Amino acid sequence: MNKQTKLKINQLTKSFPGLDQPVLNNINLSVKAGEKIAITGVSGSGKSTLLHLMAGLEKPDSGQIKLLDKDLMTLEPNELCILRNNSLGFIYQFHHLMPDFTALENMMMPFIIRGKLTDTHSSQLSLVVKKLALENRINHYPHELSGGERQRVSIARAIITSPDIILADEPTGNLDNKNANKVFDIFLELADELKTSIILVTHDISLAKKMSKIYNLVQSKITVS
Ligand SMILES: Nc1ncnc2c1ncn2[C@@H]1O[C@H](COP(=O)(O)OP(=O)(O)O)[C@@H](O)[C@H]1O
Ligand SMILES: [Mg+2]
Repeated sequence: MNKQTKLKINQLTKSFPGLDQPVLNNINLSVKAGEKIAITGVSGSGKSTLLHLMAGLEKPDSGQIKLLDKDLMTLEPNELCILRNNSLGFIYQFHHLMPDFTALENMMMPFIIRGKLTDTHSSQLSLVVKKLALENRINHYPHELSGGERQRVSIARAIITSPDIILADEPTGNLDNKNANKVFDIFLELADELKTSIILVTHDISLAKKMSKIYNLVQSKITVS
C-alpha cells in the first residue's frame, strides 16, 4: 500500500440476515492522507454500515479493509482497539457526549484512553477550543450546552488527537442549515491544519460538495460522481 494511502477497501461485501440482497456489494475505495471524501446515498443505502466496517466495528462477508496498512480482519481485538484509538476520530449525528463529564473532560477522553498527554496535544487542544469558540463553555456539562455547542464539543473531541482519519456520520444532522454550514467549515479548516483525512457520510448534497471527491451508494454499489 502506498505510504500516502491511509485506508484501502477491496471487494468488500456485507449482508445482514433477513435482507434479500447484500447491503454492500463489491465495494472498492481508498483514502489518501489529508483527502476529504463524501459518501452519499438515501436512507438505508448502507452508509453507516460502511463506516462501521471501516472502523472494524462490523465484519464483512468478504473483502479486505486496510487501515494504515493493517488488515483489520487479521488483528486481535486489543490490537484493533489500539489502532482505532490511535488513528481514527468519530463524529456522529447525535453528539454521544458523556453526561457526567464536562465539555473539557469529554474532549480529553481520547487522551485519557491513550493514557498520555504531550505538549503538542495541549497546544492542539487550545487551537481546537479557540477555533470552535468553546473557550467559555469548557467547564459546562453537556445538558448545559446548546445543540450547536454540543456538536462543536464532539467535533473537538474527534479532532484534538489529530487522527489520520475522521469518520463522520451525518455530523450536522440535527443542526439547522446555517449553523451546520458554519461549524462544518471550521471543521474542514481544522482538518487541513492537522492534516486529517475525512470520510463524511451524508444525505446533504451541499455538505458533500465541500469535499474533494463524492461517492454515491446506490443499490449496494459505489460509484464516483
Ligand atoms: N445490525 C444490523 N442488522 C440487520 N440489519 C441491519 C443492521 N444494520 C443495518 N441494517 C440494515 O442495513 C441497511 C443499511 O443500513 P445503514 O447502513 O444504517 O444505512 P444508512 O446509514 O445509509 O441509512 C438497512 O436496510 C438496515 O436496516
Ligand atoms: Mg446511517
